[in-house]
Amino acid sequence: MDFERMKIEFLDRIHNKDLIAATISQPRQKSNDLKRVKIKPIELKGVYHLHLEYQYERILKHENIELEHFEEIFNNLLTQFRQIYSEFKNENIQIQLSKKNKVTWKLEQTKQSKEIILSHNRKKQYLLDDQKPYPFLIRLGVQTEEGKVKKQKYDKFRQINRFVEFIDDSLGHLPKNRQIRILDFGSGKSYLTFALYHYLKIEKGLDIRVTGLDLKKEVIEECNRIAQDLNYDQLEFLVGDINDFNEEQSVDMVVTLHACDVATDMALARAVKWGAKVILSVPCCQHELNRQLNSPSLEIMTQHGLIKERFASLATDAIRAEILSLVGYETQILEFIDIEHTPKNILIRAYFTGEKPTPAQRDRYTAFTRFLSAQPFLENELKEYI
Ligand SMILES: C[S@@+](CC[C@H](N)C(=O)[O-])C[C@H]1O[C@@H](n2cnc3c(N)ncnc32)[C@H](O)[C@@H]1O
Repeated sequence: MDFERMKIEFLDRIHNKDLIAATISQPRQKSNDLKRVKIKPIELKGVYHLHLEYQYERILKHENIELEHFEEIFNNLLTQFRQIYSEFKNENIQIQLSKKNKVTWKLEQTKQSKEIILSHNRKKQYLLDDQKPYPFLIRLGVQTEEGKVKKQKYDKFRQINRFVEFIDDSLGHLPKNRQIRILDFGSGKSYLTFALYHYLKIEKGLDIRVTGLDLKKEVIEECNRIAQDLNYDQLEFLVGDINDFNEEQSVDMVVTLHACDVATDMALARAVKWGAKVILSVPCCQHELNRQLNSPSLEIMTQHGLIKERFASLATDAIRAEILSLVGYETQILEFIDIEHTPKNILIRAYFTGEKPTPAQRDRYTAFTRFLSAQPFLENELKEYI
């Protein structure tokens, strides 16, 4: 099949609304910041659209387009990528392009016709079912005894589920043939810690040991009581300060959810020192950089307290992500949950790769922090690693 024919065949199926999902990948240029694009059909206000998820080196972007605009975007993507995996109603098609656009077209008829689900019509599929009773969610007051999520706890339920989704995504980065050690720093009432334990240990049957650490003695005592009542024998809660926590030699996964201010940085520093394979961190309020910011060039922003605070918070998360990249992590900043549910909606996801930074990466970090007069706690903690 030649290149033009391939385009016609592919676009025909798209215009017939037969698409289940497609991924366009394998950039022609390694330096391409855009790494892959995932495409799914969705319905918006009753109109068929395509949802495009653009996965860049560090961020994800999304757009919904009407069918008539797809051809132009598709042509553009073909100038950047060489591979397409696509699932249609009755067939799977894999397309591979050579540098000179020679086409390899592999078509596999599926035995059964697949159902096309337009995602906005579909009830949100949570990893934890919002109709099923979970003993830990009942004990934590998120669900009623019958398994109904309490109205005022729905945001918490969504947060927990979203976090569990991220945990599920990162399973491939965790060790396979031994117990997985997990720490939740600033675990508080420990909704997340219990959910994580339930999902990985009880639903997935993985060999894990989980510790939640927090400053609050009474809260920790209550969490330990619940863990014992539920027979969660590989889950424990300890009272303590993240900064003084030196009990472990190595930890595989470190998570934090809204650990206050630099408690997030303490947790990130601990994780790096342990060589944790996976770090998932949703930061909380941030005050450190707000106090340090002192650049006349930024005065147009920093003269407004509200903007200064938001800017400081975003810059802090960017700095955190950059430091993690410098110390050998593939790091992404992702949207944790819709901003309408919580303004604290940035998740830092870091997978250990051990890749060394280039001098240019170090330089741009130094230039940025100098410009802001920033002296990040995390940089100080990880001086010898950067
Ligand atoms: C906003 S709460 C979040 C609790 C929980 N992760 C959640 O999302 O429900 C932040 C928690 O971090 C704990 N925390 C703050 N600084 C800490 C530190 N240095 N060491 C241990 N825990 C800390 C607080 O006690 C508090 O329980």
